[in-house]
Amino acid sequence: FRFFRYAWRLTYLSAIAGTAYLAYGVYELRHPDDQFLPDPTKKNLVILGTGWGAVSLLKKLDTENYNVIVISPRNYFLFTPLLPSCTTGTVEHRSIMEPIRSITRHKKAAVKFYEAEATKIDAERKVISIDDISDVKGASSKTDVPYDMLVVSVGAENATFGIPGVKEHSCFLKEIGDAQQIRKKIMDCVETATFKDQSPEEVERLLHMVVVGGGPTGVEFAGELQDFIDQDIKKWIPEIADKFKVTLIEALPNVLPMFSKQLIEYTESTFKEEKITIKTKTAVKKVTEKTVEAEATGPDGKKFTEVMPYGLLVWATGNAVRPVVKDLMSSIPAQKDSRRGLAVNEYLVVQGAKDIWATGDCAVAGYAPTAQVASQEGAFLARLFNTMAKSEAIENQIHELSSELNLKPGVDAAAVAREIEAHEKQLRRIKDIKPFHYTHQGSLAYIGSERAVADVSWMNGNFATGGGLTYLFWRSAYLSMCFSTRNRVLVVVDWLKSKAFGRDVSRE
Ligand code: FAD
Ligand code: NAI
Repeated sequence: FRFFRYAWRLTYLSAIAGTAYLAYGVYELRHPDDQFLPDPTKKNLVILGTGWGAVSLLKKLDTENYNVIVISPRNYFLFTPLLPSCTTGTVEHRSIMEPIRSITRHKKAAVKFYEAEATKIDAERKVISIDDISDVKGASSKTDVPYDMLVVSVGAENATFGIPGVKEHSCFLKEIGDAQQIRKKIMDCVETATFKDQSPEEVERLLHMVVVGGGPTGVEFAGELQDFIDQDIKKWIPEIADKFKVTLIEALPNVLPMFSKQLIEYTESTFKEEKITIKTKTAVKKVTEKTVEAEATGPDGKKFTEVMPYGLLVWATGNAVRPVVKDLMSSIPAQKDSRRGLAVNEYLVVQGAKDIWATGDCAVAGYAPTAQVASQEGAFLARLFNTMAKSEAIENQIHELSSELNLKPGVDAAAVAREIEAHEKQLRRIKDIKPFHYTHQGSLAYIGSERAVADVSWMNGNFATGGGLTYLFWRSAYLSMCFSTRNRVLVVVDWLKSKAFGRDVSRE
């Protein structure tokens, strides 16, 4: 009985502490402190992008040390791991967006933000050309921004490998707009399939949802889509329940190549149960308005062409280098052998360039293009820049003290020399910055039917797991990784809402 009393008290106290923490988080969010204004004598630190790399840098950067300018066509941070859930309405898109204005407003010193795309980086003149690509334009929409230090963190664009028809007819899954377009198109296919006098072949085509690319993006989307069809659409429109088909096409012999063999098999068997067809060793070669043409390899090793009519096509075949990055690479001779992005050294300095650093998907540092890598790189650069500013301040102090020693009569020379020595010691300690080291915390992916797979690094070892418990782990891990308390609350509310009322099947 005493045990239950203590347990009850503990729960009660934890609930009070949790509520107080939440309330404080909300209060802090709504009441930012006054900020220092930018100091024109300080260096211009320009950050391109508002994704994982850039925002992680911004979060940890002591902005009072620089004039920080952030430039990005997107005025928000996007929590990409939950983007596949937005395509079906399990999570609403605004729940995984964090306005950049709220992030910059909470910094100690003011940060400038320009909503624009960087179109050219002139590493010689240290100038960036920017273009306001929004619908509303002021008197100047194209201009130049000079920098002393530059961080390129513009991510990557969707790879299409120049395959005909992909750009024109596919949906991608990288940005909020993509998720909204997919959500609309799913319901468009459903409503058109139930339109008067539709032929059986056309119904079959419209309800065939094809996903190209068996990496984590394609797999997670296919899982979310099948959940939506099974748990919601089929209930509201039972007359077409048996007509839905989801196909995942992958060029390699298996999906999720970065996961262990055991988890690949688990994913494939789960997809089989969920009735998602996986076509491996099948490379898409051409896309038309209504069909996908692929070259498949049969069990006998013979190649044959397969033509698949589709209603929705989602293209998820990985990353390609953005034009602005390609252009910068072509202007730096040391980058001539780099193909997948800006080659950087162990301090994330762009090789062959001065005062330019790169993080995330646009940088080639020897790691996979993931949010984990980008955010650790961003945090590393923040530490590096904070340290550089600190050591510069100490160097200035040493300089001042030295001139005091030489110029001012009557100073206690021994005392000043001791002070200089102490500063020099501190400087040596500060300047001893270790190179960037990535710590892999594991890979997680949702595979539908409330199951997930995880390859997690734990206590110097690795363990692979899949199933319902892993799904709970996946949910709690992603919830804890969300950017803010606001995001966390909104995501939980969305999960509860879609569980209780089902996902919204309205088309808009
Ligand atoms: P991004 O986050 O893509 O940010 C790039 C920024 O640059 C954006 O703000 C963009 O608007 C801006 N930008 C673009 N062009 C310009 C320009 N010309 N000038 C200025 N700014 C520009 N990784 C994981 O580790 N775990 C996951 O669960 C996971 N899930 C994912 C799910 C999906 C659907 C996708 C697409 C990716 C997922 N990833 C995941 C990968 C992860 O999102 C990327 O590796 C990560 O976003 C890379 O961060 P980044 O800062 O380099 O680029
Ligand atoms: P990816 O590069 O991981 O996978 C793309 C897949 O498409 C490859 O397996 C490739 O063989 C296949 N492909 C390429 N061309 C093809 C064609 N013509 N026909 C058929 N298949 C073709 O890309 P993805 O999934 O977009 O991921 C990009 C990055 O983001 C990766 O580093 C990934 O780890 C990360 N990510 C991580 C997630 C997670 O951890 N849960 C979720 C989503 C992305």
